[in-house]
Amino acid sequence: MSVTKAWDWSKNTDTHWLKPCIEIPYLAEKWQAQGFKEFLDLGCGLGRHSIYMAKHGFSVSSVDLSEYGVEHLKEWAQRENLIINAAVSNMLTLPFKDNSFDCIMAYNVIYHTDTKGFLAAIDEIKRVLKSGGELFLTLISKGTYGFSTMKDKSRIVDENTILIDEYEAGDNIPHFHADIDDIKKIFSDDWTFEIFPVEQCEYNVEKPEFFSKHWIILLKKK
Ligand SMILES: C[S@@+](CC[C@H](N)C(=O)[O-])C[C@H]1O[C@@H](n2cnc3c(N)ncnc32)[C@H](O)[C@@H]1O
Repeated sequence: MSVTKAWDWSKNTDTHWLKPCIEIPYLAEKWQAQGFKEFLDLGCGLGRHSIYMAKHGFSVSSVDLSEYGVEHLKEWAQRENLIINAAVSNMLTLPFKDNSFDCIMAYNVIYHTDTKGFLAAIDEIKRVLKSGGELFLTLISKGTYGFSTMKDKSRIVDENTILIDEYEAGDNIPHFHADIDDIKKIFSDDWTFEIFPVEQCEYNVEKPEFFSKHWIILLKKK
């Protein structure tokens, strides 16, 4: 299993990571209407989604490999007078009992591994999510420029995984990629699709040829 690294958030200068993603108001409203309360922000980074969900009345737990990220979230929560249970933890060994959460968000997180690691992370999510609970996650598509054009064999880890250098995390970070068949296969037995996977294309404005594609997926645990 390829090991992931914590992001070094002290290097970050992009305010994007402090503003909640476009999907979260939808999720907060949907999950509130379903009576969900216990929310896990898996790989919380600097904490933008944890803060948003705590402000919307959820009981929030947050984990990340990055000590800097978790400390940043704790200070932010204190400034906002919010109670958030934040801890440094690896997604493969979550410090929670079985069936702890109604809803889990893993936004640009659990693909920082290889196929074996990805499947293990899904198993760990399944363990801590209640039956009938929901998981929102993003995945990188095999249609992404870097994956579909990768020729350097030393950077190919397995059929779905390549090594990518990332500014905040360092060099040679494994990234798991999926196509629709992979998604259907991985989430066939224990999950139903609440919303069928949506593939989004992101363009680098200066270099549009280096586009990336992400899947947005909302699942319910059976
Ligand atoms: C792209 S950032 C996303 C942060 C946050 N979800 C957001 O949307 O603002 C990825 C985060 O995943 C964390 N991460 C990577 N591998 C992890 C692992 N094995 N366990 C827990 N967190 C991990 C990194 O430290 C980083 O904070």
